Amino acid sequence: MATNKCKVTLLTLALMLVGMMVDRVASQDYGDALSKCILFFEGQRSGKLPSNQRMNWRKDSALQDGSDVAMDLVGGYFDAGDNVKFNFPMAFSTTMLAWSVIEFGQFMGPELQNALDSIRWGTDYLLKSTNYPGKVTAAVGDPNADHDCWERPEDMDTPRTSYVVNQTHPGSEVSGETAAALAASSLAFQSADKKYSADLINRAKQVFDFADKFRGSYGDSVGSGVCPFYCDYNGYLDELLWAAAWLFKVTNDQTYWNYLEKNIPHLPKRVTRLVDGVLHDGGESFAEFGWDAKYAGINVFVSGMVMNTNKSDPYVPLAEKFVCTLLPDSPSKSVAYSPGGLMFKTGGSNLQHSTALSFLLLAYAQYLKNSKKGTVNCGNVDVPVARLEEMAKGQMDYILGKNPLGMSYMVGFGQKFPHRIHHRGSSLPSMAQQPQHIQCKDGTPYFQTKNPNPNLLTGAIVGGPDEKDQFPDDRTNAPESEPTTYINAPFVGILAYFKANPKPSI
Ligand SMILES: *[C@@H]1O[C@H](CO)[C@@H](O)[C@H](O)[C@H]1NC(C)=O
Ligand SMILES: *[C@@H]1O[C@H](CO)[C@@H](O)[C@H](O)[C@H]1NC(C)=O
Repeated sequence: MATNKCKVTLLTLALMLVGMMVDRVASQDYGDALSKCILFFEGQRSGKLPSNQRMNWRKDSALQDGSDVAMDLVGGYFDAGDNVKFNFPMAFSTTMLAWSVIEFGQFMGPELQNALDSIRWGTDYLLKSTNYPGKVTAAVGDPNADHDCWERPEDMDTPRTSYVVNQTHPGSEVSGETAAALAASSLAFQSADKKYSADLINRAKQVFDFADKFRGSYGDSVGSGVCPFYCDYNGYLDELLWAAAWLFKVTNDQTYWNYLEKNIPHLPKRVTRLVDGVLHDGGESFAEFGWDAKYAGINVFVSGMVMNTNKSDPYVPLAEKFVCTLLPDSPSKSVAYSPGGLMFKTGGSNLQHSTALSFLLLAYAQYLKNSKKGTVNCGNVDVPVARLEEMAKGQMDYILGKNPLGMSYMVGFGQKFPHRIHHRGSSLPSMAQQPQHIQCKDGTPYFQTKNPNPNLLTGAIVGGPDEKDQFPDDRTNAPESEPTTYINAPFVGILAYFKANPKPSI
């Protein structure tokens, strides 16, 4: 008996040691993934690259942007695998990078500087985009001409048309999200660069006023410059409220709070989603968060400011309803899960939902902890804070390789990752390999080839597997193999948190 007991104890000890080792490896891996997740943004840079550029197969590009409208619009990010600068999703990605730093920057260590640099590459461009009062840039680059070519950004010779909204042709969603990005970034830079932080908040206020006073959707104003690619299918009121919430957080000016309170009842109750070119009902709005729809983000973010106060309604109740839609065993669950455990919503680029919704779960968990509120009530199920963190961690681990295919969906991370991503720069020979110009259609063979991409877009997270956890690693399948800035941006915060806290808090 005694011997057996001893054996059992030794075995337990051995298992514990293995467990600790696995944990240690995992937490180091999260650090590696964090570095790469931020590095990805260097690969998406447009404009004149700085001397400290680390993703160095990329070179300068689009150096005349804005010249058609007598503006300097050089810089910013290409949104995905093409060479267009779409300001609406770019601003959202910038907001999420900033929120990542605000909430989880304390865990980033040496990566904090890189994260701030990734924000600044966005905000420097957003400042240029809003440099003239009464105008906000909505996009640069004719998207149809661009998509018709498979060209390196450095070679790009399609029309670099600038699409700008103004007082007679407004765009409250692109202007609202730009204001939110500037305000959130102002907070992210508050201790690192006071002067820059002040410039950002001043501009944010001005852009918000323009967005609110001159109301309209940019789809009606600049049309094919942004639609159907980044049409605002869900109206612009959410962006106005999102911006007001960020402005209130940074300035503590009651005007923004009153604006939020007055308008929050008018948010649409349901969302619309484009699936295979057709608009579908996308469910209840409080459960949605992404570049187009800010609803769940507003409720979670504002909850962080008003939890346990008499101003918590409707933000906290709606944030909790949102959390309950994600919980697999909640009576009000509404999101689908793949057999391997990945959150799944229709419409392509699915990992954007997994990263953005997980970010909200994790942020909400921190707000609950700060307010000493230990659980969320989902009907007859009480959900502890640790469970929210476990859910976010589950999505993160899935993306990093804990999935039925055993592959990571982040380029350059782990042993097995996507090699045929839908990305022009990554799939064409680099400028160093082939300095001669590659024309629009001369790139087609590089699009069609089954060969792996020659240039590693390190850190890029692709659209991801289908609802059955399958992933063909096929460049021509854009919904699954294309990376986007708004998949990576919320992931930065998630990785930072779990790098420092590999075990969810109890
Ligand atoms: C306002 O914007 C529209 C759409 O971009 C453009 O056609 C129009 O010329 C602009 N008006 C002014 C005064 O700049
Ligand atoms: C809400 O709380 C604040 C501060 O605790 C208090 O001053 C105010 O009177 C309360 N308002 C209502 C309507 O209860």
